[in-house]
Amino acid sequence: MFNIIIAENYDEVSREAFKIMKETVKKDNPVLGLATGSSPIGLYKKMIADHSSNGTSYAKCVTFNLDEYVGISRTHDQSYWTFMHENLFNGLDIPEENIHIPVGDGTDEEAECLKYEEQMKDYTVDLQVLGIGADGHIGFNEPGTPLDSVTHLMELTEVTRKDNARFFDDDINKVPTHAITMGLGTIMRSKKIIVIATSDHKADAIYGMIKGPVSTDCPASVLQNHPDVTVILDRAAASRL
Ligand code: F6R
Repeated sequence: MFNIIIAENYDEVSREAFKIMKETVKKDNPVLGLATGSSPIGLYKKMIADHSSNGTSYAKCVTFNLDEYVGISRTHDQSYWTFMHENLFNGLDIPEENIHIPVGDGTDEEAECLKYEEQMKDYTVDLQVLGIGADGHIGFNEPGTPLDSVTHLMELTEVTRKDNARFFDDDINKVPTHAITMGLGTIMRSKKIIVIATSDHKADAIYGMIKGPVSTDCPASVLQNHPDVTVILDRAAASRL
């Protein structure tokens, strides 16, 4: 079931997302599912500001990130490990041992997927933050991914690699071809989910997620089967609803 919030601008989108985050962080031992990409950056800035100005502590939070590229090291400037530390974790008091991000630097991806899924089974994610790809992906679950999938290795589509080339000197050849991602079934186990999307580039994917059939053609459409999803959009992303 979707609760849809349409905000005037990105700051308001981030503020709405932060309100939900703050409620979650007040709980005992909150478990957060986190995304990378541009969509949650405003939310992460507000979390850091809240920590530094109001002293809100994130020390008891445990986090699980959705995904990581395969074939680049953690210390690569475009790894999701680096992204999360630069855009969130370095600004909070969350202990490093509470942070979980798949390791994609290339020893045994299949074993890493199994390990990550097993680690997650010890927890229930209280709040999962999602962005959405123009092709309807969530995490890196590209079209065609089974709706009940668990953490797995995914070959990225050309649409996704083109979209992400902006972070790799605008050169699609530098964008990794594979990623490790939580599966759609893994994401669906979260208690509460927020989806953040802005710009008309996302309008078709948002339409497919909310109004389209539940289908592997639009992986985000699986969220129609989840009891508690808040979708936070600007007008452009909501323009086809
Ligand atoms: C990131 C992730 C992806 C992004 C999606 C949107 O961890 O899992 O699904 O959320 O590609 O990316 P942005 O926000 O950059 O448009």
